[in-house]
Amino acid sequence: MDNRPIGVFDSGLGGLTCVKQLMSVMPNEDIVYFGDTARVPYGNRSRETIVRYTRDDISFLLEHDIKIIIAACGTASSVALPYIDDVGVKVIGVLEPACRAALKRTRNGRIGVIGTASTIKSDKYAQIIASIEPSAKVFSAACPMFVPVVENGYADTEVARIVARDYLAGLKNEGVDTLILGCTHYPLLEGVIGDIMGDGVELISSGREAAEYCRSFLDGHGLLAGRDGKGNSEFYVSDDPESFTQLGGLFLGREIELSVNRAMI
Ligand code: DGL
Repeated sequence: MDNRPIGVFDSGLGGLTCVKQLMSVMPNEDIVYFGDTARVPYGNRSRETIVRYTRDDISFLLEHDIKIIIAACGTASSVALPYIDDVGVKVIGVLEPACRAALKRTRNGRIGVIGTASTIKSDKYAQIIASIEPSAKVFSAACPMFVPVVENGYADTEVARIVARDYLAGLKNEGVDTLILGCTHYPLLEGVIGDIMGDGVELISSGREAAEYCRSFLDGHGLLAGRDGKGNSEFYVSDDPESFTQLGGLFLGREIELSVNRAMI
């Protein structure tokens, strides 16, 4: 048993969609969350910059005596994690769990991936899928407008539907039967994306799969919190905590008192 917290980081507040899943699969675990709100978005930045920011995020979490780190950010996971050396604790990205889940669920071997421009440019999802199942076909689409659509409260509106129809048309034409939502924000668009892709297409949330993978890793290594684990969460951001507190409930899927601290990195 290990009651030290799980560290989670993201470029901003989107990683709370992963925290929501962690809280649901492991209610006893303490969580320390860091959102790099001063430097969000990561999704259109260069590899050098994303790697540098990711190193800072990990260093911040390492100051909090965490037992494992989850890179909830699709962009940091795909672009930066391959360049991060051993940091002394396990670092989980969101890619591999999502790829394995997609391969398990696809029936026709045609898998779609959507994410930020940098995530899609990295081609990492396709590489991981090919390394596990070379016969699978991967079709990708960058959806850069999805993040601002969600953050500005347009997730369930005609605006989201127009943008999504355009972004997803190519994947639909390719006949994918499984679609990986490779970005923290996309679970909030699940309804819109599901309607457009149709019933036959299964949506894979990378945050949900990473939370499941984290649970089985901790379990397998005797690192789960004991029954006395309180399930407390601490939230840190690198910019003004107020907007994080306001939007946080949207991403967590419920209204809760978030006590958010300003972190200097
Ligand atoms: N958190 C990012 C991701 O999952 C989306 C926001 C950003 O571009 O930083 O890729």
